[in-house]
Amino acid sequence: MTPIKNCILNKDTSFNPIWLMRQAGRYLPEFREIRKKNTNFIKLCLNPKLSEEITLQPIDRFGFDAAIIFSDILMLPYGLGQEVEFKKNFGPNLGKINLDKFVKLNDELLTNKLSPIYDLLKNLSNNEKIKNKDLIGFVGAPWTLLVYMINKVSPKNGLSNTFFKDPFLINNLLSILDKFIKIHIKNQVNAGATIIQIFDSWAGLIKTDFDKFLYKPTLSLVDYTKKLGVPVICFPRGITNYLEFCKNVKPSMINIDYNIDPKSLIDNIDIPIQGGLDPKILLTDSENLKNEVTKYLEIFKDYPYVFNLGHGILPETQIETVEELVKIVRNFK
Ligand code: CP3
Repeated sequence: MTPIKNCILNKDTSFNPIWLMRQAGRYLPEFREIRKKNTNFIKLCLNPKLSEEITLQPIDRFGFDAAIIFSDILMLPYGLGQEVEFKKNFGPNLGKINLDKFVKLNDELLTNKLSPIYDLLKNLSNNEKIKNKDLIGFVGAPWTLLVYMINKVSPKNGLSNTFFKDPFLINNLLSILDKFIKIHIKNQVNAGATIIQIFDSWAGLIKTDFDKFLYKPTLSLVDYTKKLGVPVICFPRGITNYLEFCKNVKPSMINIDYNIDPKSLIDNIDIPIQGGLDPKILLTDSENLKNEVTKYLEIFKDYPYVFNLGHGILPETQIETVEELVKIVRNFK
């Protein structure tokens, strides 16, 4: 069995698999090289040949236990027909929402529009390089996609004042997202994804109505993915109550962020855990890296645990630091 599935399904504690969120990305010179020649990010995500090459770059370099497809959570709004653009030094920028257009969408239209992503997965699942590794497909959680679709830009400085002003729009979008995220999950699983991760990067912005925005929509996707026979990892970044989340949503594995004390969790839940380390630790010195990484490994010694970060690896991270990190995890006994 592949290493992460073994951790999730057999609750194996004898081996800590490792992969990193955003492992296929800007900290890699070979990614930057491709990116320089491909200025349109969406087009790059829809190029199965280059996306395959990028997906495998971190595998070739570091031998991680899982490949996560090179794609983006915002490919879904793009697939729904909302304009999505990635501006240099700014981040994503989305266009106007046209609900009427969304209502006319169906399974086939979305599937056709995103078909290069499914081709990418099919090609990867036949690639010898990841024969004994997990192949992770992913989606954005309904809340985080709602945030981008309505807010139009990253809510780094909080949500716009008018974010909640149109409940009709919000309710419609939540139901459209539930339907089409499921189609995107199903297509990824059919094309060869062995695990699905749900990224809820802005879950920490939810202050009320946790049932409506967090638990209910995520549970719906988790149940659906489990029925397809595939484990599902949730990453509700920034929430304060992981216990309550796990009780309500019951993912196959939970990816924690770096604000939570991992010890507070292991005595109270019984699902495998992934991640935790603050990606900024990878910008500090070797000694500190070793101490901090070892802290996580010690805490999770007798617990099914996949090593990962508490958020995506930062673009300024050095290759040598990632090499050191992998060594520390591999040599830990
Ligand atoms: O993990 C991987 O290596 C797989 C690929 C992947 C990307 N995005 C590629 C990417 C994954 C899993 C994502 C998920 C994603 N995308 C999330 C959830 C995880 C998280 O980091 O919180 C979010 C919120 C997005 C939306 C997004 N995409 C933003 C805000 C940005 C711009 C700022 C940033 O963080 O880079 C992107 C662009 C993006 N997605 C890049 C990559 C490699 C950088 C593109 C570039 O400018 O070269």
